[in-house]
Amino acid sequence: MRIKVLTIFPEMVRAALNESIVGRALEKGLFAVECIDIRAYAQNKHKNTDDYPFGGGAGMVMLAQPIVDACEANAESGQRRIYLSPRGRTLTQRVVEELAQESELMLLCGHYEGVDERALEMCFPEELSIGDYVLTGGETAALVVIDAISRLLPGVLGSAESAADESFTTGLLEYPQYTRPRDFRGREAPEVLLNGNHAHIARWRREQALKLTYDRRPELLETAPLDAKDRAFLQTLRETPPEDAKKRT
Ligand code: ADE
Repeated sequence: MRIKVLTIFPEMVRAALNESIVGRALEKGLFAVECIDIRAYAQNKHKNTDDYPFGGGAGMVMLAQPIVDACEANAESGQRRIYLSPRGRTLTQRVVEELAQESELMLLCGHYEGVDERALEMCFPEELSIGDYVLTGGETAALVVIDAISRLLPGVLGSAESAADESFTTGLLEYPQYTRPRDFRGREAPEVLLNGNHAHIARWRREQALKLTYDRRPELLETAPLDAKDRAFLQTLRETPPEDAKKRT
C-alpha cells in the first residue's frame, strides 16, 4: 500500500512516522508514505495556502488551487482520496479494516477553519473523522489512520504482537494482562495465569473480557460474536446483585 499525505506540515508527519512499529515497517518497505507539501503547489507570489472566508467569519480557509494541483500531480489509478475532518464518517476498526485493503490512498490534512469546498468536490469525495472532538489540524488524524492501518498490513506486527486477539477484533474489550514480578507491592498476579493450564487461562481471559465489556461498553455485546458458554457467563453477571457487582470494578 502507498499512502500520500497532503499537508502544509510534511515534516511533522514524517517525524512522527519515523519511530516504533510504523517506522520499522516503512523502513522494511512493507508500505510507503509520501508526504506532499501543499505549499509547494501554491501559485501566488507569497506561497500562501489560505485566505479570508467569503461571507466573513473567524479564521482562514485553505485555498482550492494548491490542494487541487497537489492532488492532480499525485493522482494514481484506483486511488482512494479522503479528507480528514470532524464532519466525516467516524473511524472505527471496521473502517480501518476496509482501508487496509486499498493499494493507493491519499489523505488531505485540513487547517484553519476548513478547506474551500470546491477542492473537496473536485478531489476528495470522502471525509473521515477520528472522533467527536476538534483538532488544530488533520495531521494528527492522518497519523492515527496510518497507524491503525499499518498494523493490519502483512508483516507489520510480529506474531508476538499479533492483532488477532484484541479489543475491536474480538468485538470485546481486552482482558487484563500481568507480567513479572508475581507479587508487586502485595498485589498478586491471578493464580490461574501461573499454573500453565492453557484451557483454564483461555477461559479466564474470555470471561475477563466479557466482564469488562459488560461493565464498561455493554452495547458492544450486542454485536460481538458470542457462544453458548459466553451467554451463560453473561447471564451470571446479570444475576449478580448490585452490591457484589460493584466489587468487579
Ligand atoms: N481535523 C480536525 N478535527 C478532526 C477530527 N476529529 N477528525 C479528523 N480530522 C480532524
